[in-house]
This record gives sequence, C-alpha cells and structure tokens, in this order.
Amino acid sequence: MLIDSFERRVNYLRVSVTQRCNFRCRYCMPEKPFEWTPKENILSYEELFAFIKVAIDEGVSKIRITGGEPLVRDDLDSFVKMICNYAPKIDVAITTNGVLLERYAKALANAGLKRLNISLDSLERTTFHHLSKKDALESVLKGIDAALQAGLKVKLNSVIIKGINEREILPLYEYAKSRDMEIRFIEFMENESADRSLRTVSSAAIIEAITGKYAVAPLQNKTHSAAKPYMDEDGYTFGIIEPYDDSFCKTCNRIRLSAEGDLIPCLYYEDAQSIKPALGGGEKQLHSVLHDVVANKPEKNRWSYQEEQKQLSARAFYYTGG
Ligand code: 5AD
Ligand code: SF4
Repeated sequence: MLIDSFERRVNYLRVSVTQRCNFRCRYCMPEKPFEWTPKENILSYEELFAFIKVAIDEGVSKIRITGGEPLVRDDLDSFVKMICNYAPKIDVAITTNGVLLERYAKALANAGLKRLNISLDSLERTTFHHLSKKDALESVLKGIDAALQAGLKVKLNSVIIKGINEREILPLYEYAKSRDMEIRFIEFMENESADRSLRTVSSAAIIEAITGKYAVAPLQNKTHSAAKPYMDEDGYTFGIIEPYDDSFCKTCNRIRLSAEGDLIPCLYYEDAQSIKPALGGGEKQLHSVLHDVVANKPEKNRWSYQEEQKQLSARAFYYTGG
C-alpha cells in the first residue's frame, strides 16, 4: 500500500511514453523543442513495465498512458497488452490527440484498453489548425468515431483560450453530449513552453456559456478526479478543471513517470527521482524508489505556496504528461 505523509493513498500512476508529438498546440509546445530527448534515454516498454508491475503490486489500480502524443510511439498496443495481461482488473486509459486513432483504436481495444481521453479544442477547421498548428480536425473526428466504434469509452478534454475558442464552449458541449461522451473543459495553465500571449477563460465564464442554454447544477466530487463535476437538466454530466485551485491536492492520489524514467510526485513541484539506477537492481530497488517518492509527495502544488510570486512552471506538459 502506498500512503504519503499526508495520509493520502496513492493508487494512480500516469506514465508518459514519449515527449514527442505530431501537433504543436499553442498551450503546450508551439515550437518543436530545441532538442528531443535522444531515443536511447527513453525507457523501453519492458523497463516501464518492470516499474509498473511493482507499482501495481503496491496497490496502484489506475494507470494512464500519456505523452507527448503516446500514439506516435510504435507498438503502443503491445505495451497496453503487457499491462492488461498482467492485471486485467486495472483501469488502463490513454490520453491522446486522436489523430492516429482511426488507425489504432481497434488494436488498442483488442489489447484490453477500455477508456480514452481525447483532446478536442475546436470544431472549426481553421481554429483547430490555428491552435494545434495541424490541419487535422477531420482526422481527429474520424478518430473519435473509430474509438466509439471499437467500444472504447471516450472523454473529451477542451482547453479554452480567450479570443480563440471561447465561442465554441457550447458547440463542443453539444457535440460531446450528442455522442454521450463526457467533456471536461480545462482552464489554460501558463507554463514556460506555452505561447506567452495566451489567456485562459475562467471556469465561471465556461459555466455561464452553458447555463445560457441549459440549467446546470454542481455535483459532489466523489472521485479523485481533478475535474469538478456538473450535471445539466437532461442528466448529462461534464467537468471543469481549474488547475490553479488546490482543492484537489487534498485528495490527490497520483504520481507520474516520465518517458526518461523520472518519477514525479507532483505536477507543480521540481522534485523527481529517476528510476533508472534502480532498473538493474530488480524489484526490491524499484520498490524502494517508489516508496521514497511517495513519502516525498508535497502537500500542495506550488501555486498555492507562492501565490504572490507565481512562477511559471518550467516543466513542460509534454515532459510530465500533463
Ligand atoms: N493548460 C491546460 N491543459 C493543458 N494540456 C496541455 N497543456 C496544457 C496547458 N498549458 C492538457 C490538454 C491537452 C492534454 C494533452 O494536456 O488537456 O489536451
Ligand atoms: Fe501534442 Fe497534446 Fe501537447 Fe497538443 S497538448 S502539442 S497534442 S502533447
């Protein structure tokens, strides 16, 4: 069992399999990073899995595979299969931009995957292109359909940016609702890699856009999700993620593993410990790194400690996997 020093049980692991991406979203990596981490520094699926096995044995019951864009790494379905075969009851999900899903959705479902989160910030071709720097709306929509057809449960993530896609809150909402997919609107988080001119739309403004048409009530958050849940008059549920709010830190149950093997106790905290040196030492050493990192999990994200001198997070999302 993994319990941190604030009595929180850690049972959720996010694993980034690559920093690379075939999009250049303005809020994430508008420019290609000066240098990608060389391939030889990236852990193999076998190495990642060696750690995941230990984490599962210690009580991790939920795993999310992230990137960059996880589907740009070859044979992702084989990695999903390794995890699902080892622990069929584990909740395994992937966060993806969806552009390669038309090709891979079926293989992923066959490998044992049940759930996907797909990023969709716009339903207008030019806005989509402007935000992601890729003219890929049509492929993503086909990817979403392919995922649904393969029987995968899909949630959508939409980052809402002032003056860019804020007029699309309702259309995105209705697109998701009509397909019975939960949508989560995300406030933009400033970070050093993002386009500095971007400004977020507040959660209040997001709710306002929806309540203009539908009666909406907040629900109690019964899970550890970072999203605050709401339900509308038709019983449709959706969420809003406010990253600057530290209320979800109190029940935070997650840690992250980067593609290079850094085990990160909190998204907005610089500490991390590499699992690489422990990989040669077998399960016992991996177990010890895991427990060390959990023991060092900070109480809150950095924003809440340093509100007055808010620093930009230097850690890119494509490194931590968001
Ligand atoms: N702010 C908010 N969310 C972000 N993501 C990436 N960068 C940011 C950011 N700066 C989230 C988005 C995207 C997912 C991969 O990570 O939801 O869809
Ligand atoms: Fe790629 Fe996702 Fe970052 Fe967009 S947000 S650039 S799709 S990793």
